[in-house]
Amino acid sequence: MKVIVANYAGFCSGVKRAIKLAEDALKKGKRVYTLGPIIHNQAVVDELEKKGIKSIPTFKKAENAIIVIRSHGLEPNALNEIKTYGYAVVDATCPYVRRAQNYVKNLKKEGYSVVIVGEAKHPEVKGLIGFAGDAGMVYEPSMLLPSKKIGVVAQTTIGISDLRVALGDLIERAEEIKVYNTICAETKFRISSALDISQQVDLMIVVGGKNSANTTHLAELCRKIKPTYHIERASELDKVCLKDARVVGVTAGTSTPQWIIEEVVKKLEGY
Ligand code: F3S
Repeated sequence: MKVIVANYAGFCSGVKRAIKLAEDALKKGKRVYTLGPIIHNQAVVDELEKKGIKSIPTFKKAENAIIVIRSHGLEPNALNEIKTYGYAVVDATCPYVRRAQNYVKNLKKEGYSVVIVGEAKHPEVKGLIGFAGDAGMVYEPSMLLPSKKIGVVAQTTIGISDLRVALGDLIERAEEIKVYNTICAETKFRISSALDISQQVDLMIVVGGKNSANTTHLAELCRKIKPTYHIERASELDKVCLKDARVVGVTAGTSTPQWIIEEVVKKLEGY
């Protein structure tokens, strides 16, 4: 079996940076917590927990502890609250997410209603809404627009087609639209290289957490081209129907470490 791995697959710079900052925080000899899993990959979260970086759903009053803000960022009110509880904060907000947050702040200042195109439940989108305050809302098809001036910011990990659809809808109804395309470059590279190899193979394997939005999105896009399986670990390949597949493509979401990709490739090559 021939295996083709996408040129851009696995950890992005924002995820690598967040993990490095959390590991560096450990060296200060304090307890280190992340608010929610640092990335959407249980194997990595388990590894970090063994080292002493613990994911907690909400912060508690504690001394001598460091809270790491994930690459998704955090709404400003929650961040201020954490500080008032006396935690030291290491802010690992990805620079691309920070840029989107700054656009939201500026749009709000300029009097725009801020529409975020993305998943309402995603932590990054919740954070962006936090920066917009009363002026913010998450895009829904045919939503009522509260004002004539609409500012649009995208969740960094959505596909361009989702942004295009939302803009097509909004432009019909708003008088003025100011758009920031905040989809990050690393998301774009991963999508285009996944689509590229999907054309060359019989079947695609997309590796990453089932709770990872960008991995799920990659799998959805590849599925439109070739039969596609979304797996978390190599052990799940036993359930994949590889019959008749001579060439298999492999890609992975931004929260998938290199060692899991290698584990999958090795197993495929052994078939
Ligand atoms: Fe940042 Fe893009 Fe990764 S926004 S966390 S580099 S997917």
